Amino acid sequence: MSPLPIVRALDDLRRGLAVWRAEGLRIALVPTMGALHEGHLSLVRLARQKADRVVASIFVNPTQFAPSEDFQAYPRDEAHDAKLLAETGCDLLYAPPTDDVYPEGFATAVTVAGVSAPLEGASRPQHFGGVATVVAKLLIRIAPDVAVFGEKDYQQLLVVRRLVRDLDFPVEIVGAPTVRAGDGLALSSRNAYLSESERAVAGRLNTALRSTAEALLRGDPVDAVEARALACLDKAGFSAVDYLEVRDAESLARLGPGPVDRPARVLAAVRVGKTRLIDNWAV
Ligand code: PAJ
Repeated sequence: MSPLPIVRALDDLRRGLAVWRAEGLRIALVPTMGALHEGHLSLVRLARQKADRVVASIFVNPTQFAPSEDFQAYPRDEAHDAKLLAETGCDLLYAPPTDDVYPEGFATAVTVAGVSAPLEGASRPQHFGGVATVVAKLLIRIAPDVAVFGEKDYQQLLVVRRLVRDLDFPVEIVGAPTVRAGDGLALSSRNAYLSESERAVAGRLNTALRSTAEALLRGDPVDAVEARALACLDKAGFSAVDYLEVRDAESLARLGPGPVDRPARVLAAVRVGKTRLIDNWAV
């Protein structure tokens, strides 16, 4: 297999993309921060079905990490990632340097109000501003016909959909289902931080989400179901529970206290030792 072309300079990116566009090819983008796993690769496979050429980006985006978070420690292994992408049928890896994305004097930020505010937005106030800014830049630089994002980061997917609608980006946003380990734990680059005993606890997050969704489908009231789920997470051995909430699947508005009467999503964030995990489940 030929090695995957890796492009770092914006000029080279534009030249490469112009050739494909002149041939009338449809281009898909899969934005990532690297440390790739089957979840990311499933996005590449879905992108392949939606377009003639697939560009993956790897950029550990400093603006979406708070100073106290794991930006420095975030796992990085570009050579291994490039091998996985080549095997999965990706056509081009775009991996720009940080000072190219954020040159000296960079002073612009994209904020998406509303859907960014609760849940992850409340726990990580700068996070979605950083995500929206870098996703806007990637969409402008690559101008893909379609971009694929995982439902694993469900709120992020809604933020990106809002961004694209509000700023008229001519791109189709596709959401991809979450890829999980055998015990239900959503695959995540951050799972690499977990010790063996922490890994055993981590699987219980998905169990709690699933039983919450089942109780809601039976017609149990939202407030009672949320309280039960929080108690269950408390006993499961997590070091902290940032939130577990039932929300409207589109607007993320709070639901309850009674039974759910529309498409909903259960979303949770917990800590196992020092590692923060997020997951969600459709109702
Ligand atoms: P990252 O965490 O690397 O995730 C890249 C993409 O992979 C996201 O769309 C995410 O939802 C998806 N993904 C992660 N784990 C998944 C799983 N288990 N199953 C399916 N998809 C999964 O999300 C980001 O990077 C960044 O915020 C980014 C969008 C690249 C902006 O910096």
